[in-house]
Amino acid sequence: MLFKCLILVMLLLDWKFSAIMTLSIHLIFLQFGKKIFPAFLGSVVEQYNEVADPFKKKLFKEINSMKPEAGQKVRILEIGGGTGANFKYYEVPAVLDVVDPNPNFASYWNANKYKNLDIKPMKQGYGEDLAAAGFQDDSIDVVVMTLVLCSVNDQNKCYEEIHRVLRPGGKFLYLEHIIADEGSMLRTVQQLLMKEGFWQFMFDGCCLDRDTFATVKAFQGWSKVEQEKFYLPEPAKPFFKVISQAIKPHVMGVATK
Ligand SMILES: C[S@@+](CC[C@H](N)C(=O)[O-])C[C@H]1O[C@@H](n2cnc3c(N)ncnc32)[C@H](O)[C@@H]1O
Repeated sequence: MLFKCLILVMLLLDWKFSAIMTLSIHLIFLQFGKKIFPAFLGSVVEQYNEVADPFKKKLFKEINSMKPEAGQKVRILEIGGGTGANFKYYEVPAVLDVVDPNPNFASYWNANKYKNLDIKPMKQGYGEDLAAAGFQDDSIDVVVMTLVLCSVNDQNKCYEEIHRVLRPGGKFLYLEHIIADEGSMLRTVQQLLMKEGFWQFMFDGCCLDRDTFATVKAFQGWSKVEQEKFYLPEPAKPFFKVISQAIKPHVMGVATK
């Protein structure tokens, strides 16, 4: 609706060129968004990792301190693996499965780069339905999600599926941007950016208004949830610096089955 009004206003003001450009960009995104987004993410992921590095190292200690029995490997499932931004953090011998709805991401991985990882071909699928992607009950040691719970359609369905595939005592590791505190200016900005689906359209379904801290905690299946909120530090590069303002508040945690 907002988009249609914008085009209408441009036409009324006789800004034909701007209207045509805006419409063209919109159509390009609609047609090629699933290819453009992996390229965009590939270009900012290292900048994100630079600022998120200490938090990721702390979170993934949970995996790296695991001691698989002789000849065994840790079974990791990454949901929404994207360009493989987390692979370098897995230091233990592991079998790594990745589920992602967008098959264009797989070309960004170099599976041979990580000698300790046995990376399986990407399974196209959704966190809400891991059964459809072939994952059995109690078959995984660790499920990882970073910057994905902001985009899924149904967080609770994801938690149900994660809980189903984890073995008893298995861990769910997550690191996500979340909605800012009630009453804060940033929360208002986030809500404005979400109006008419603007942010979702620009960033492949990403939502700025998810309270993942509360939803993980509210899910009944976990035996333990340890989580903390933090603010993403300022990145150095100007473009990402601007975008990162909207995703500053984060949560990371470990939920145990
Ligand atoms: C912002 S990217 C994050 C990628 C990566 N985890 C990272 O930290 O760089 C979001 C990823 O979630 C995937 N995704 C979106 N909806 C999903 C869903 N319902 N189930 C699984 N993955 C999903 C997208 O295709 C994309 O790869």
